[in-house]
Amino acid sequence: MLSNSLSKRAQSLKTSPTLFLVAKAKELQAQGHDVISLTVGEPDWGTYPAAALAGHEAIDLGLTKYTPASGTPDLKRAILERLEIDLKLKYAMNEVAVTSGAKYAIFAALQVLCDPKDEVIIHSPYWVSYPTMAELADAVPRIVTCTEESNFKITAEQLKKNINANTKVFLFCSPSNPTGFIYSKEELRKIADVLLENPRVHVISDDMYNRLMFDGSNCAPHILEAAPELKDRTIIINGGSKAYSMTGWRIGWAVGPQKIIQALGDYASQSTGAPSSISQHALVAGILKCEPNIKETNVVLKKRLASALHEFQSISEFKIFEPQGAFYLWVDIKKALGRLYQGVKVSTSKEFCQILLEKFYVATVPGEEFGNPGYMRLSFAIGTERMAEAIARMNRLVGQMK
Ligand SMILES: Cc1ncc(COP(=O)(O)O)c(C=O)c1O
Repeated sequence: MLSNSLSKRAQSLKTSPTLFLVAKAKELQAQGHDVISLTVGEPDWGTYPAAALAGHEAIDLGLTKYTPASGTPDLKRAILERLEIDLKLKYAMNEVAVTSGAKYAIFAALQVLCDPKDEVIIHSPYWVSYPTMAELADAVPRIVTCTEESNFKITAEQLKKNINANTKVFLFCSPSNPTGFIYSKEELRKIADVLLENPRVHVISDDMYNRLMFDGSNCAPHILEAAPELKDRTIIINGGSKAYSMTGWRIGWAVGPQKIIQALGDYASQSTGAPSSISQHALVAGILKCEPNIKETNVVLKKRLASALHEFQSISEFKIFEPQGAFYLWVDIKKALGRLYQGVKVSTSKEFCQILLEKFYVATVPGEEFGNPGYMRLSFAIGTERMAEAIARMNRLVGQMK
């Protein structure tokens, strides 16, 4: 009966699957089980001290009032300075809007760019929220399935084939969540060439993980480095959550053409209002003072990755794709499927992940949620010993499947 009172939009809304799995893991934990959660896209280390201290300072200084809706000048300046260092891109203060999380920046960007029937090209495996966000903007997500052959990245040919008169946005992420693969400058140039032939198509470049790199580089290659000509229709998204370990502070930003950023800021001002004053003050310190922490984090992540890759050698049924950035492992588990576990056939990655959680207390996210069944995503942003224990449990499950 209740559903009748809900809008069509609300009725088609899905609970964020990763958050659902986190809740399930917490429930099992509350029942006393030793659950190892590899689901959530969140570092296991705290917000870096300089940023955390600035958060306290904001409260002490009474910086607890509304700020300008699109962010404080201090934070905007810090974001733009960083962008110039990382990507050699210059923007004006009215070309950046600070938002309550990068997720909201993507959501708002789609809201201000899309009309009904506009298509948003998203390639799978995708970050779980992209298709729903496109739908909430009344747009049509056009999912392009990517496979191992292209390291799960969209090729210029695939992009070209999927652009039509309704295409409004190409939305992508490098390093990718869930695979951790990055687009090389050459790949980005080829993609840009296709986009240059299609002037209606805008780019949303989700750079959320671009500072978490394992090859020692400062930042992942960027489409605007490869093709500065796209600057007048590219929106850059980033935030404090991953590089600065500030997930709970809910602070992100969008940078792009003034007209679009103005609209995005207006949209945010009419919905969330200004982002948290405290989080903004903390992020200024994060951006200005926490470079050494980011470097250290990359060293730690690289070690954790090496350790996890080593442990995974014990499970021959799994194929692991070594990531170049972010903190996820994308695992092909198809070889382990189609067998029986306690007399019940385990056919899908979803079923596999469910048993792994409910019987072995390891929470992962099945490939179905990213548009690529047969795979599993897990976060290695946890300590090596816990990770090794989680892999040992996976090994036990696979060993018990006949
Ligand atoms: C690919 C990607 N983009 C954007 C976000 C949004 O981050 P936040 O809203 O925490 O800033 C996330 C978070 O998980 C992500 O994985």
